[in-house]
Amino acid sequence: MKVLVTDPIADAGLTRLRDAGHEVETAYDVEGAALLDAVADANALVVRSGTDVTEAVFEAAPDLVIVGRAGIGVDNIDIDAATDHGVIVANAPEGNVRAAAEHTVAMTFATARSIPQAHARLRTGEWAKGDYLGTELNAKTLGVVGLGRVGQEVAKRLGSLGMDLVAYDPYIGQERADQLGAELVEFEACLERADFLTVHTPLTPETEGMIAGDELALMEGGYLVNCARGGVVDEDALAAAVEDGTLAGAAVDVFADEPVSPDNPLLAVDDVVVTPHLGASTEAAQEHVATSIADQIVAAFADEPVANA
Ligand code: NAD
Ligand code: MLT
Repeated sequence: MKVLVTDPIADAGLTRLRDAGHEVETAYDVEGAALLDAVADANALVVRSGTDVTEAVFEAAPDLVIVGRAGIGVDNIDIDAATDHGVIVANAPEGNVRAAAEHTVAMTFATARSIPQAHARLRTGEWAKGDYLGTELNAKTLGVVGLGRVGQEVAKRLGSLGMDLVAYDPYIGQERADQLGAELVEFEACLERADFLTVHTPLTPETEGMIAGDELALMEGGYLVNCARGGVVDEDALAAAVEDGTLAGAAVDVFADEPVSPDNPLLAVDDVVVTPHLGASTEAAQEHVATSIADQIVAAFADEPVANA
């Protein structure tokens, strides 16, 4: 069977597919007509967040059996079109959870202590010690929006650093929140009470734009961290809220359009720390998601159950 890989994944995943006897072709950064051409004779397609798997892709690939997402979010895959074409969509929901949680913790510290800003100035020879009076996380309140796999790992880590935890997630019970020492609250209360708000929902029609100007206004003086999906937080509103001092700062790993355009408003605000979607970028996480998705493709080709379809 032929597996087309259109976003880079760890070699361990490619090796596992080849060892199972399948042909693996990599075609990174293809889009539009080139993507449709490349997928025409594929039996499986492997992507991360860089490939939009639209209805046109399914139409161009009559022999496609499975699309494997080497990671968590499947918002770049048209699930309805996959269903219409009888194609399995599988992801790797476990392998990068700890990497994403650790990056969230790093981004929280980065914005609380202005680490990238101070680093950049010191590299140009400026000893700007007097310009950066940071905020301690200890005894502050962390608001978690979306208390799923990543949100829970972030809550554990930042709770152990002395933060009080509140969370908004309409789909989990107080019992699970109690195990984490988190108080489940309504959305507005989460925004109002959080000194630091961290977002961990999937991007869905329900969550798209759920944090915009009105919601940011409720966070007066707080910090926002988004290592989930760009579309959940309105970028213009976030940039304006940090610029005008409604928020003290923000840290953003994910953008509505990626790769991010140089004129994205978030890149122009000093107190917004940005990284290029690095949440899952650790060796361990990439090896784990690549082998997990390879195993599922091998299973699909053998007509065996696919674990995370
Ligand atoms: P998950 O499915 O385990 O958890 C998501 C949680 O969000 C669930 O508990 C769900 O109930 C909750 N939720 C859904 N709709 C909600 C709403 N309207 N309001 C509040 N909560 C809501 O997912 P996860 O594995 O924890 O991943 C979380 C996010 O992080 C996803 O968007 C994923 O794509 C993203 N992610 C990003 C990176 C990165 O590289 N930056 C890495 C891993 C995951
Ligand atoms: C994910 O949803 O798993 C993340 O976007 C990580 C990634 O693949 O970069």
